[in-house]
Amino acid sequence: MKTIVLIVAGLVGFGTGEARTENKVDFVRDIQPILQKSCIECHGPEKAKGKLRLDTKEAAFKGGKDGEVIVSGKADKSEVYRRITLPADNDDAMPSKGDRLTQTQTDLIRDWINQGADWPDGVAIGGTAKKGESSAESPATTPKLPDYKPTAAEIKAIKELEALGVAVRPIAANLDWREVNFRAQNIDVIEKALIPLKNVLGLVDLNLGGAKIKDADLVNLKGLVNLNRLHLENTPVTDAGLVNLRGLTNLEYLNLYGTAITDAGLGQLDGLTHLKHLYLWQTKTTETGVTKLKQTLPSVDVSTGAEFKEIAKPAEKSDEKKDEKKEEKK
Ligand code: HEC
Repeated sequence: MKTIVLIVAGLVGFGTGEARTENKVDFVRDIQPILQKSCIECHGPEKAKGKLRLDTKEAAFKGGKDGEVIVSGKADKSEVYRRITLPADNDDAMPSKGDRLTQTQTDLIRDWINQGADWPDGVAIGGTAKKGESSAESPATTPKLPDYKPTAAEIKAIKELEALGVAVRPIAANLDWREVNFRAQNIDVIEKALIPLKNVLGLVDLNLGGAKIKDADLVNLKGLVNLNRLHLENTPVTDAGLVNLRGLTNLEYLNLYGTAITDAGLGQLDGLTHLKHLYLWQTKTTETGVTKLKQTLPSVDVSTGAEFKEIAKPAEKSDEKKDEKKEEKK
């Protein structure tokens, strides 16, 4: 408990001190566009000069022919930062051709590394393949989505959510498809936020894992027809709540781990024809129920977690801790 309070106090102090919160570099917003424009052409799916790729988290942190190039927390020890700040006439300077990065850009990269080089899982940077031309090698982690333009109602809803302190992030630079992660958010905020959220039709990824939401709250998800991923693990949601998911036919990922869902609940999912991953560890579902669902949705991959029973517990604990942290902050 004590350490948690200290950590939070530390963070808050950091925030007020020199308006640091404002300067927190966000990978998707600030760094991804720089890499995309100036580096990926030579360090991406098409070419990996110096044996270095900077288009996926795994590759970027693995480094190039001379090893690690990003040392989290230490820009001055990071080859990436050294290369982009070398004088233009130095042979090692990057990018080795084309426009040099501006001071603002190199500062962003420096701050991003010093702040811990946070690169959200699954965010990959597309190659330089021209529009319409599909590159077989390009990383499949960013879902390929058609252009999307939010309506006025949606833009207004996003503003309302932001006023509540909820980040409605674009899933990649220059895209209006959105994701919302309510992890560690206070339940009062979540319940308020779910109301405007129903107008965010561009929402493709929603994380309600660990939230103390009620079945009735899920009514607000009913119209989110573009939703692709939904985390409901460790929530009090029951079979009755799942009725609201029946129309979410674009759902590919659904996590119900640690809920009281039974076979009756699985029956509500039979119309989710795009479902690929369904997590049911520590639920009240049975093998019979799962088998029945698989008959209707043969392509769904169901994890019942018989194999994970041991490690499931600690995950629950860490969620509780996050909630506690939030409480202290309030
Ligand atoms: C026109 C092609 C080109 C572009 C664009 C480019 N690089 Fe490079 N990069 C190279 C080549 C060629 C090498 C290997 C030769 C060398 O080590 O200098 C290299 C090597 C590197 C290395 C060293 C890898 C290792 O392990 O030795 C780093 C770090 C690097 N680049 C970072 C970047 C960054 C960051 C950008 C974008 C700001 C960038 N590069 C843009 C061509 C490019």
